Amino acid sequence: MILVTGGAGFIGSNLVRYLLDIAGEPVLNVDKLTYAGNLQNLAPIWDDQRHVFVRGDIADGELIGRLLAQYRPRAILNLAAESHVDRSIHDPDSFMHTNVVGTFRLLEAARAYRASLPAEQKDRFRFLQVSTDEVYGSLDAATPPAAEGAPYAPNSPYAASKAAADHLVRSFHRTYGLPVVTTNCSNNYGPCQFPEKLIPLAIHHALEDRNIPVYGDGGNIRDWLHVEDHCAAIVRVLADGRPGETYNIGATNEVPNLALVKLICATLDEEHPRRDGASYLRQITFVTDRPGHDRRYAIDAGKIRSELGWAPRQSFEAGLRQTIRWYLSNQDWVRNVTTGAYRDWIARQYGAGADHPQGDHPGGRLGNAALPAHQGGVETAAARL
Ligand code: NAD
Ligand code: DAU
Repeated sequence: MILVTGGAGFIGSNLVRYLLDIAGEPVLNVDKLTYAGNLQNLAPIWDDQRHVFVRGDIADGELIGRLLAQYRPRAILNLAAESHVDRSIHDPDSFMHTNVVGTFRLLEAARAYRASLPAEQKDRFRFLQVSTDEVYGSLDAATPPAAEGAPYAPNSPYAASKAAADHLVRSFHRTYGLPVVTTNCSNNYGPCQFPEKLIPLAIHHALEDRNIPVYGDGGNIRDWLHVEDHCAAIVRVLADGRPGETYNIGATNEVPNLALVKLICATLDEEHPRRDGASYLRQITFVTDRPGHDRRYAIDAGKIRSELGWAPRQSFEAGLRQTIRWYLSNQDWVRNVTTGAYRDWIARQYGAGADHPQGDHPGGRLGNAALPAHQGGVETAAARL
């Protein structure tokens, strides 16, 4: 079994499905269910007996320690995070709690758990930290893509909190010998991304006949990777990445924001024309820039390609069209998220958990008699949401 944290979010839910469907690996999924956590993302595998869901905070060391002792995972993949740069500018506090303190507590729990393992399991154990290219900061047009070892220069509270977490992870390897690997990935896109991020937000606003907001002059560049390619890379690094090493993940796919938004509009014109026959392009609107807005990210993924044989499979045009089609045919998902109805999802869909004393959800059944009652869990989700 593998412990995935943040498995109800965008990348986490794609990864949990990937681990179960492609890698055939049982998953213990711990997620706090913040605004970004959506159990509807897990609906396709909710009844899968190999999937155990627990609502919990990675900063809750006691809960994590109990779960590690109970489920004895061979690895921890840490995806739990506050992930939106704009939110980190308005309210950085939760970013420090989860991304810094949460990662620290998870590392401490992992260290104690690993110490309790027999020698062979101790050697096999891995802690994989999912990080971001934003830790390398903004690149000039002429600067080569960032390789592992490029200096850290985070510019937003989000990026700084992820950089701090990366340093903690590194220190637990150097100081305590914890077998960690860190991945630094570029911008992801694909199904189930919360429509606060550029691609799903642009699709949603286009379909709602609202302005499609482009920050500044639209010349900022991001390096886009399909989420399934990211999941495949994480699984490769988990299998054969060397402890203590960092692996950059990206598809060498730099696109200026304005060009990206225009491509979304052009694809929507073909896939779902506006009723008046006009192009969605007319909805593009330039708005005030993000403070401290990084101009360009670009990632050099040469190491994971040559050392681990990973390569992205999705072309950007095909992956973007497939993503747009996913949003078009999952308008109920979008509605649930944008109206807040997804917050009722647990109570409506999994109401049985609301009055169960335990929070664990092993494949369609709620609760686990072997576990003591704990504050985290589905029942508190129903109460809070
Ligand atoms: P997301 O915001 O969609 O999901 C984050 C998940 O973490 C949510 O389900 C949320 O409920 C959960 N969470 C938040 N705080 C928690 C806590 N204290 N304890 C347990 N769970 C908690 O984020 P995402 O885009 O899926 O990103 C996942 C990871 O990948 C993050 O670590 C992010 O930094 C990293 N990353 C993201 C991208 C990207 O483009 N989205 C790129 C590179 C790296
Ligand atoms: O690079 C990896 C990072 O990518 C991840 O670590 C983050 O978790 C993830 O959120 C993402 O960060 P960005 O800030 O690059 O993503 P976002 O979708 O918020 O913005 C992408 C670009 O589009 C960025 O230059 C800002 C711009 N933008 C964004 C929004 C939401 C707009 O122009 N208009 C918008 O409305």
